[in-house]
Amino acid sequence: MAAAAPVARPSAGSVAPVHVPAPAAPPVARVLPADIAAMDWDALQQAVAGCTACGLCQSRKKTVFGVGDTQARWLVVGEAPGENEDLQGEPFVGQAGQLLDNMLKAVGLNRGATGTQGVFIANVLKCRPPANRNPLPQEVATCEPYLRRQVALLQPQIILALGRFAAQSLLQATVPDVATIPLGKLRGQVHRYDGVPVIVSYHPAYLLRTPQDKAKAWADLCLALDVAKRAS
Ligand code: URA
Repeated sequence: MAAAAPVARPSAGSVAPVHVPAPAAPPVARVLPADIAAMDWDALQQAVAGCTACGLCQSRKKTVFGVGDTQARWLVVGEAPGENEDLQGEPFVGQAGQLLDNMLKAVGLNRGATGTQGVFIANVLKCRPPANRNPLPQEVATCEPYLRRQVALLQPQIILALGRFAAQSLLQATVPDVATIPLGKLRGQVHRYDGVPVIVSYHPAYLLRTPQDKAKAWADLCLALDVAKRAS
């Protein structure tokens, strides 16, 4: 029989540090509420606030449901919360948000106003992707029922889709292979999302980097204004 290998016993004073693994984070139940399509506004807001349907719930500080007048004719849809939005729980509060506010002001809209000046601003994703990375297709698909229900409850006369993630999410059912179409080619037309007219435009963060395209964004706003006026 082979002799058992001697066990080296640490002598007093030379005790090796014991590695105690950090406690594992509690598992997240990745479940999207089943009845989103039947929720009223308050229930929807609460469902978003407590959502654990994708991994973004583990890194977010606050969910970002949206801001503005729930009776507004205009719905503006952006991409996802960034760092400031994650901290404050409100969409478009950074530099891109200031540009968006100025653009909206130019067509008589204000996120704090009601009536004809009212606007509701939301994002495709309600939680911030870490380090501002692009939303993953799975995250967009998981979050989509919330935006769909927001649209159904708001019943806006016009949706302004800002940037490729908003455009792709809103037009995937009506524009074949939308993900392969450059944003510029989706502009200048009236699309539809669940029957609501959609105008595609550039994301304000892109316009900050590419100010020469601001004139095109202005043309998009004018088209949206025109469509909204004809609908009212
Ligand atoms: N960019 C977005 O698309 N949404 C925000 O809320 C902020 C920045």
